[in-house]
Amino acid sequence: MKKILVIHGPNLNLLGEREPGIYGDMNFNTLNENIVKRANELGMECDVFQSNHEGAIIDKLHEARTEYFGVVLNAGAYTHYSYAIRDAIAAVKIPVIEVHISNVFARDGFRSNSVIAPVCKGSISGLGYASYYLGVQALAEL
Ligand code: DQA
Repeated sequence: MKKILVIHGPNLNLLGEREPGIYGDMNFNTLNENIVKRANELGMECDVFQSNHEGAIIDKLHEARTEYFGVVLNAGAYTHYSYAIRDAIAAVKIPVIEVHISNVFARDGFRSNSVIAPVCKGSISGLGYASYYLGVQALAEL
């Protein structure tokens, strides 16, 4: 059975209370339950990790390379400037799918640039929580 990992970056633990007009009002734990349920329905095991710290996300990506088939990653604001996370994704050989709840191309100018996109297998942005579900589905189909 395929085992996948979902990684949430900084501030995503506050989903539900954080800027609900942009990020929706689903509680973080409920979202994770839904993600795991969808993965299970697609015949995959799914673990979830969240950190507000760049190094912890990098450590988890390194760990993932031997434990998981692939990763769904919402790197939060690190998406836009973390060359260290970009290098970690490039270093691990498993597919990483970049996801964003909001449409990063329709917001502040700095959000239009993703330094991780070139090293990710693919990117999904702006579909609300469905961005995660579709990321999971993409891993099921790879
Ligand atoms: C986000 C978009 C980022 O620009 C922002 O910093 C986030 C969340 C999203 O899911 O829409 O923290 O990745």
